Amino acid sequence: MSNYHIKHLEEYFQVYRKSVRNPEGFWEEIAEEHFLWRKKWDNVLSWNFSKPEVKWFENAKLNITENCIDRHLATRGDKTAILFEPNNPIEEAQHITYRELHQRVCKMANVLKGNGVKKGDRVCIYLPMIPELVVSLLACARIGAIHSVIFAGFSANAIASRINDSDCKIVLTSDGSFRGKKSIDLKGIVDVALDYCPGVKTVLVAKRTNAEIEMKAGRDKWLQPLLDNAYGDCVPEIMDAEDPLFILYTSGSTGKPKGMVHTCAGYMVYTAYTFKNIFQYKEDDVYWCTADIGWITGHSYIVYGPLANGATTVMFEGVPSYPDYGRFWEVVEKHKVTQFYTAPTAIRALAKENLEFVEKYDLSSLKVLGSVGEPINEEAWHWYNHNIGKNKNPIVDTWWQTETGGIMISPIPYVTPTTPTYATLPFIGIQPALMNESGEELIGNQVEGHLCIKFPWPSIARTIWGDHKRYRETYFLTYKDKYFTGDGALRDGVGYYRITGRVDDVIIVSGHNLGTAPIEDSINEHPAVAESAIVGFSHSVKGNALYGYVILKEVGESRDRDNLRREINQQITEHIGPIAKLDKIQFVSGLPKTRSGKIMRRILRKIASKDINNLGDISTLLNPEVVQEIIDNAL
Ligand code: WTA
Repeated sequence: MSNYHIKHLEEYFQVYRKSVRNPEGFWEEIAEEHFLWRKKWDNVLSWNFSKPEVKWFENAKLNITENCIDRHLATRGDKTAILFEPNNPIEEAQHITYRELHQRVCKMANVLKGNGVKKGDRVCIYLPMIPELVVSLLACARIGAIHSVIFAGFSANAIASRINDSDCKIVLTSDGSFRGKKSIDLKGIVDVALDYCPGVKTVLVAKRTNAEIEMKAGRDKWLQPLLDNAYGDCVPEIMDAEDPLFILYTSGSTGKPKGMVHTCAGYMVYTAYTFKNIFQYKEDDVYWCTADIGWITGHSYIVYGPLANGATTVMFEGVPSYPDYGRFWEVVEKHKVTQFYTAPTAIRALAKENLEFVEKYDLSSLKVLGSVGEPINEEAWHWYNHNIGKNKNPIVDTWWQTETGGIMISPIPYVTPTTPTYATLPFIGIQPALMNESGEELIGNQVEGHLCIKFPWPSIARTIWGDHKRYRETYFLTYKDKYFTGDGALRDGVGYYRITGRVDDVIIVSGHNLGTAPIEDSINEHPAVAESAIVGFSHSVKGNALYGYVILKEVGESRDRDNLRREINQQITEHIGPIAKLDKIQFVSGLPKTRSGKIMRRILRKIASKDINNLGDISTLLNPEVVQEIIDNAL
């Protein structure tokens, strides 16, 4: 019997050792016993981190939707697969059973086929958190098309660059979306984007808000009538283990987003196995992850991981503050949620509000609490533990990335003793390494360095779409034969890991990764701006907020500074989305630079954090005099 469900600490250590001593044997057992294959693999793993190339379950054949849907029909056909909780609590929740999900996915798959989508084609999905979103992901997987979901908060510009990067021919969207009191014109945003995407021939539009929208003749089609007329069964496409399942974009240190490519088999095995253990999922549980499916957390732990285990997964359309700050807890009570998985930024926002919003509700169904997306600070951890977990539910602080596909470092609840702010121990099969500046691995405990992973795990992203060179440079060149995460971490006296934050040019704001380069590019396009630099500074709710230093073209620029600030933020909203807006904008006459012309962000970060007593040696700068000026006018 494989170790699919780990129940106590001794077992964790024993299984961990097994998974590291013989990874191939270990994953082969898990894959063999818990999934449906059309053909088994010839070879479990081949890998080379310097090429880099990773292949799991080589030449195996499968379809992930058979694993996530079809195989449950006999035993769980009437069980709720997706529990949809709408934005407005007055609207009724929808319980979509596995049988209904099967039919809806098949119909959608047939609609996609009918619109010319074939195996290997890329499909752009720009939908709000409505059932059509899950259904369309699975429909793509059913027919072997590669989905590329774009978070429905991104701007037209961001959509266009992603569509063009992966050459999508078709877009799925909706007439609009609800977010709390607001409704957003998604279709209007798509229309603007598509002015720059000549390759897109078809747009399928789901109805959600009933807003009046324009439908472009010959291109735009309402989805519902097509679904109504579609056949309710669809033979799954037989996929190779290493065929791409999806592309998901993440920010990087240069302007262009990176389309991370995940493949079918390894991703399925790893997300399912982590889901089972890290949420200690049991048959009648009601699991809720509050993330948006536009991010990796939603892909892996709303859709694929839970469904592969035949779970009931809650999908929430709304926001934590609508109709009031008790919404999360109202939903937990209403659906008797057993596992609740959210982000520190949401916890911090709710912790600011009156405790009555929590105390009104019965949270006794909860068994496990999760956190993801950024380091959870001690105060938020205790608030979560005390008020939501009533000091009895373990908190799983799960560290992972879009690139890793699944959770990498995390406690296993009721197995691993937790420590606030620590992601604790590597998950089964994960071999972390902490590296120093000179590229040596730090051995033993009580060390801090750059976090790398030494050995492939099944759900590692295989490449960056269309740019394998960049994949190699970003993740595999910094440290030889190791995957570099971009994060810093420490290992304490008992071997627990604590993630200290990004060590590159990515800043995490409210749990969203933002590369500084694309934001700077956007600011620099403003006609009055010569140059800019963005840094993060600590913020009580968002974790980090953005501080921009901006040099204007004309020193004597006479325009009102507040107007300029508004225009700059407007421009960022248009280019990227409102999530990338700056909290503070300081106009400066110069930026501190090294003699080779590199901006010294370290100094700018310190000034933004008001930590100016410890700037270090600035005498080697090209322009040390500018530092004092920036300090004097800091916001
Ligand atoms: C950060 C989200 C500390 C980290 C799943 C990582 C975390 C980046 C944690 C990836 C955590 C994620 N503690 N930091 N528990 N989880 N991060 O790609 O910096 O959106 O590299 O994936 O989020 O963000 P991404």
